[in-house]
Amino acid sequence: MREIAVFGGSSHPQLTAEICAHLRVPQRPVLLKRFANDCLEVQLQSNCRERDVFIIQSLVRPVQEHLVELLLMADAARGASAGRVNAVIPHYAYARSDKKDAPRISIGGRLVADLLVTAGVDRVLTLNLHSPQVHGFFSVPVDHLHALRELAAHFRQRDLSNAVVVSPDLGYAKSAAAFARRLGLPVAAGAKERMSDTEVRIAAIIGDVAGRDVIVLDDEISRGTTVFELLDRLREQGARSVAVACTHGLFADNALDKLAASDVTEIVCTNSAPLETEHSKLTVLSVAPALAEAISRIHNGESVSSLFDH
Ligand code: R5P
Repeated sequence: MREIAVFGGSSHPQLTAEICAHLRVPQRPVLLKRFANDCLEVQLQSNCRERDVFIIQSLVRPVQEHLVELLLMADAARGASAGRVNAVIPHYAYARSDKKDAPRISIGGRLVADLLVTAGVDRVLTLNLHSPQVHGFFSVPVDHLHALRELAAHFRQRDLSNAVVVSPDLGYAKSAAAFARRLGLPVAAGAKERMSDTEVRIAAIIGDVAGRDVIVLDDEISRGTTVFELLDRLREQGARSVAVACTHGLFADNALDKLAASDVTEIVCTNSAPLETEHSKLTVLSVAPALAEAISRIHNGESVSSLFDH
C-alpha cells in the first residue's frame, strides 16, 4: 500500500490538525505565496510521488480564495506524480448552486466539480451536500458522509419525551426523518419557499408541533433567514421550546449572535466550517473522527458506506 500524505489548505487548520491526530500521521507542510499581481502559488513541501495524497480544504469564506488554493494544491500533487489525489471538502460551498432556477445562471456546483477533476482530483470525501444531485455532479468517486450520528448522539443526552424533529423545508425532510428515526421521534417539515438569499417564506408546517419541544434540523445555517422564519411559525403554532441543529454552521452576518439572543434553547453544529465566536448556547461537535475514519478506510481500500450509512 502506498504511503498516505495529508496536506491542509489554509481554510481550517484546526480541523486538519485534528484529523491528522486521529490518523496518527504528520501533517505535511504547504507553502502558500501571493504574488504582487494577486495570483496565488502553492508548494507542497513533502514528497508526493506514488503517495496516496489527501488535501483537506473546507470551502468557506473567502470561498473563491480557498477554492483556487485547493485547485492549485491538487494540480501540484498530480504534477508531483501522486499515486492518487483525494480532496477532503468538509463544506462544499457551491452545493446550493445545484439547479437552473433562473435564466442565464451557472450551475456552480457542477462547474466546481468539473474544475476539481480537471485540476487532478481523483476522489472526493465530503459531508452533507446540500442536495443529493450534487453528488452526481462529480465524474470521480465521492464518499458522502453525514453528521446525523454525531448530532443524534448529542440530542440523546436530552429529555426527548416530548420532542419532535422539524425540517425547515421538504427538500431536507428525508434527512430529518432519518435523524428522527435515530432518536425514535416524529418528524414535521416546513413548506419553505426561497425568494432570495435574504428572504424565505414558510407558509405552513406539515406535522404537529403544538406543545412540543422542537429540534430544528437543517443542512446549514448561513444568514439564519430560514431558521428565523421557521421560529416565527413554530411560535405561532405553540411549540414549547426550540433547539436548532445543523451540519454546517456558517453563521454569516452575525447569525450566531442573533440566534443566541433569541429564545432558542441551544444551537448545535459541527466543525465542518471554522467558527470565530463562541457562545454559551452553542455546541460544536467534531467531525474529525468520522473524516479520519473515512480517510483511513479509503486509504486501506475498505468500505466507507458500511460505516456511514446515508
Ligand atoms: C437551503 O435550502 C438550506 O437547506 C438552508 O436552509 C439554507 O442554506 C440556510 O441559509 P440561511 O440561514 O441563510 O437561510
